[in-house]
Amino acid sequence: MTRQSLRLGMVGGGEGAFIGAVHRMAAALDGEWRVTAGAFSTDSGRNARTGAQLGLDPQRTYDTFDAMLAGEASLPADDRIDAIAVVTPNHLHAPMAIAALQAGFHVFCEKPIAMSDAEAQAIAETVQATGRRFALAFTYSGYPLIEEARTRIAQGDLGAIRLVQVEYLQGWLSQPIDIQGNKQAEWRTDPARAGLGGCLGDIGTHAFQLAEHVSGLLVQAVSADLTIHVPGRRLDDDVSALLRFEGGARGTLKASQVAAGEENGLKLRIHGERGGLEWAQMEPNTLTLRWLDRPSEIVRAGGPGLQDSAMRLLRTPAGHPEGYIEAFANLYRSFAAAIRGEESTWVPGVPDGLRTMKFVEAVIANAASGRKWTSIDPGESE
Ligand SMILES: NC(=O)c1ccc[n+]([C@@H]2O[C@H](COP(=O)([O-])OP(=O)(O)OC[C@H]3O[C@@H](n4cnc5c(N)ncnc54)[C@H](O)[C@@H]3O)[C@@H](O)[C@H]2O)c1
Repeated sequence: MTRQSLRLGMVGGGEGAFIGAVHRMAAALDGEWRVTAGAFSTDSGRNARTGAQLGLDPQRTYDTFDAMLAGEASLPADDRIDAIAVVTPNHLHAPMAIAALQAGFHVFCEKPIAMSDAEAQAIAETVQATGRRFALAFTYSGYPLIEEARTRIAQGDLGAIRLVQVEYLQGWLSQPIDIQGNKQAEWRTDPARAGLGGCLGDIGTHAFQLAEHVSGLLVQAVSADLTIHVPGRRLDDDVSALLRFEGGARGTLKASQVAAGEENGLKLRIHGERGGLEWAQMEPNTLTLRWLDRPSEIVRAGGPGLQDSAMRLLRTPAGHPEGYIEAFANLYRSFAAAIRGEESTWVPGVPDGLRTMKFVEAVIANAASGRKWTSIDPGESE
């Protein structure tokens, strides 16, 4: 029997939007998904043009998200969409994800999962109650050499982990472009649409998720500083945090959107008893391993010595660079396999969403208090 692509609906991602187009490229890369329906924008012209550009049946470019849910739910099972990608600003993630799950659709949601830990809990409960799949777009987890690093640490190559340092530096909010008409900046600095954190929620969550995912360790407590550098801005544009991990490891997290001149400087360094590793998102096909008792190693995507788990995430032979779209596509491919009931590699989801929202709330609470440490899990001793 011919293998059918799964059908994807999308909310957000209209003409001029950033991440929706990336989702569409990533979903299409392996032929596992076909965008079949959408409510791409609240602007009817943009919405219609986006649907037309994608070649959608005009009846499946819906005026609103609610109309998409109702319209798709009324179609026969072999025609209606299987999943919905939620790629709107943050305040809509939880209500839309919950409604989509309750209407019977799987959900691939943008990060941060929600506006608060309480909303993230509500998503978790709905996933549990509906039995639908829920993936969260922590894109960087999809890089092959992130999987290499995670596997090496999990199998004990570095020994017990002692140090975790993660930084995510961007410079695009160095000027007040949020009040000068930049669409992406405008909602990201509005507490009603971005959430409790600015830079913290936008990229601090990426850094935190990567640090826990690769180290395999949970952060127990944070000591944090939040700053607004650009006058008049309502949410933080700069975050610094000390991290205490379970088992005694110590870490630092630096995230900033006012690091003038920086592009997408996400970097991770982890050291254990026997050695360390280093990875940077802007050079994603290289992982450096350093050892106490022998020379350093450079591990390359597709090159010799790569773990099978990382090889499975590559599509081209060594030396043909793979990057952001391919990392994203790895999440969509795995999400499809999970929905089909096939063997699936790991996909970030509800647990990552819950952890990152607890992190956001702990950082905000700590930065506003005079206390040195705040526990990530409220109720735990600090
Ligand atoms: N995973 C990543 O690496 C990554 C990167 C960038 C953005 N994001 C996340 O993706 C989300 C979107 O960010 P962006 O930069 O693409 O924003 P954007 O402002 O460029 O796009 C948002 C889109 O949502 C649409 N929209 C808003 N309300 C809507 C509604 N009610 N119905 C239908 N469409 C609606 C807007 O018209 C627009 O097309 C955010 O949550 C952001 O945090 C994630």
